[in-house]
Amino acid sequence: MKKFYITTPIYYVNARPHLGHLYTTTIADLIARFKRQRGFDVFFLTGTDEHGQKIEQAANKRNHPVKEHVDEVVAEYLDIFSRYGFSNDHWIRTTDDYHKEAVQELFRKANEAGYIYKGYYEGWFCVGCAEFKEEEEQGKAPFCPLHDREAERVSEESYFFKLSAFQEPLLKYYEEHPEFIKPESRRNEIINFVSSGLKDLSVSRVSVKWGIPVLDDPAHTIYVWFDALSNYITALGWGNKVRSGFDKYWPADLQLVGKDILRFHTVYWPAFLMAVGIELPKTVYAHGMWISGGRKISKELGNIIDPNILLKFFSRDYVRYFSAREMVFGLDGDFTYSALINRVNSDLAKGLGNLVSRTLKMVEKYCQSIIPSAPKAFTSPDASESWQKTAQALRDSTIELSKVFELEFNDYNFSRALEAVWEIISKVDKYISDSVPWNLAKDPSNKEHLDTVLYTSLEALRFITAMLAPIMPDSTLSIWLQMGLANKPNDINPESLIWGELPSGNKIGEVKALFPNLDKDKLMAEIEEEKKKMSDSNEVKPAENTSPITEVVAVTEPVIETAKEPIPELKPMINIDDFLKVDLRVAQVLEAERVPKADKLLRLVLDAGEENKRQILAGIAQYYTPEEMVGRKIIIVANLEPRKLRGFESQGMLLAASIGEAGKPVVAGFLEDVPNGARLK
Ligand code: MSP
Repeated sequence: MKKFYITTPIYYVNARPHLGHLYTTTIADLIARFKRQRGFDVFFLTGTDEHGQKIEQAANKRNHPVKEHVDEVVAEYLDIFSRYGFSNDHWIRTTDDYHKEAVQELFRKANEAGYIYKGYYEGWFCVGCAEFKEEEEQGKAPFCPLHDREAERVSEESYFFKLSAFQEPLLKYYEEHPEFIKPESRRNEIINFVSSGLKDLSVSRVSVKWGIPVLDDPAHTIYVWFDALSNYITALGWGNKVRSGFDKYWPADLQLVGKDILRFHTVYWPAFLMAVGIELPKTVYAHGMWISGGRKISKELGNIIDPNILLKFFSRDYVRYFSAREMVFGLDGDFTYSALINRVNSDLAKGLGNLVSRTLKMVEKYCQSIIPSAPKAFTSPDASESWQKTAQALRDSTIELSKVFELEFNDYNFSRALEAVWEIISKVDKYISDSVPWNLAKDPSNKEHLDTVLYTSLEALRFITAMLAPIMPDSTLSIWLQMGLANKPNDINPESLIWGELPSGNKIGEVKALFPNLDKDKLMAEIEEEKKKMSDSNEVKPAENTSPITEVVAVTEPVIETAKEPIPELKPMINIDDFLKVDLRVAQVLEAERVPKADKLLRLVLDAGEENKRQILAGIAQYYTPEEMVGRKIIIVANLEPRKLRGFESQGMLLAASIGEAGKPVVAGFLEDVPNGARLK
């Protein structure tokens, strides 16, 4: 199986998450899902960068102990990221012990290899950027436009990394690996920067206490970028025994970063790796910035877009679609709520949503909700009626445009990939309108023609839905269910779809409105009101849900229409002793299989850290395949009385969120790695 290792930057915890952080993670999530759908063994890493002076200062400003401060911000990140349903495989925190140990090891190795020496550093330091700035005018503090302030004069003993020694090796590497820095324009920028000369880099601070100490010289803490960049390998177990996967997943296939931090990732990072003899990542891709009010959205500039507000008014699929469609990947984009509403109304409500509902409603009305059989247009060589030719032409252009989608997506041109899908949508729309099926339905002798129109439209819809699954997991799952299809669109590789294999004779599901048209004026007024209430300040607020269990539980699978879900009534109060009677444990699924003649049940064999394996039966078979459960870490009620179901003893119960009237289960899991058998309390 081919592997794909994808990373996002790890986010500073000096303030709350905003749209910018959400954006990189959203794009990484789209790519991770796209690759998984195509059979790759994906490892998707994200997390938080928690050391350094600016974190320390943010905590001091709030009069909070630093660790308490970072824990609070991390809880907010976990809360918001889990509500967005990101499918990351691990969440790294640079305050994790395994990471700290491995960073010290990397520093030690670079030192051992002769690339680190001790000296004195004097210079202008921008705390916001956590880097020294060039002096442009002699003796005058340089001004940092990004953080709207002057840099500070700093002089201290410091360890230095011999970055200058890597100027030639880096230039050679860029030359020989044109795919290392993308897009091309950014590559040229970096080549010019490195060609103009590299100075050695100060990689320790005595003035910063909140950091990882240098082994054998603990008065020095390791420079925050040396610490942070290492996360991409420490999370895979390099330099520690807690994590694993380095041999399997390294080198990274794609490291996504904002263009603001490209230099760190394409000059410092590869130089650190070269110093200790580790292979370099294959591609570092710099995307553009979301702009608001003419400036980059940033916590320092106070013009952030709050992900909580976004999620209150828009489903996560809307935000994902907008992120992929509106911003040309690699370039900056202006964020406005108005543009988001316009996109939803034009592309989703009028475009995709309308096509789904008009097609399915016709199947309901003209075919008693049963998918018609594959028409002669696709099964017989002598289908020569003009309406059969039209259906064949639509088939051909759908297949051709799905190839365009693949090519563009693989090149990370998300907006162009989506344009290709919307071209199919408008072709199908036109095909339906031109074929006038409501007239065909008036005369039974047109049945074959009518069935051909419906089958062709449904088949195109199947292709469209499979392609869109990584971008809009919730809505595509809903379309899939409405079409009465088995499995999940996530599990279907669009490249292996064969036209004409839409199973006929299937009954379609209940047809529901997917993307209601948004009332722009009303919504804009409500958003303004909400913004006032929440005040987009940089103040860190505690996560909405701070109970110890929910903090770490991540919803990793798509949920349909989450925003509109009514909240179930609270059960009667219990006391802590009642709660402590429930023994909740972490368990890993070792084996999974369907229970014969019970279409809702999966039999799971678990490692709950005990001597013997456990077996439980879970009513999730309609939503999870056995394959996708194997390997997952889940939460079980371990002291529930065993009971027999369908001849099997169930020794516990799995925890899952229950969604909607149908009680769709979404299995609870963890963003971080946890040992089997660990107790939840
Ligand atoms: N902690 C460092 C990164 C260390 S990686 C080893 C850092 N953190 S950050 O919190 O400032 O976030 C950086 C990333 O967030 C950017 O590179 C970018 O990916 C994303 N964004 C932050 N603001 C953004 C926009 N306004 N628009 C788009 N993405 C932005 O730098």
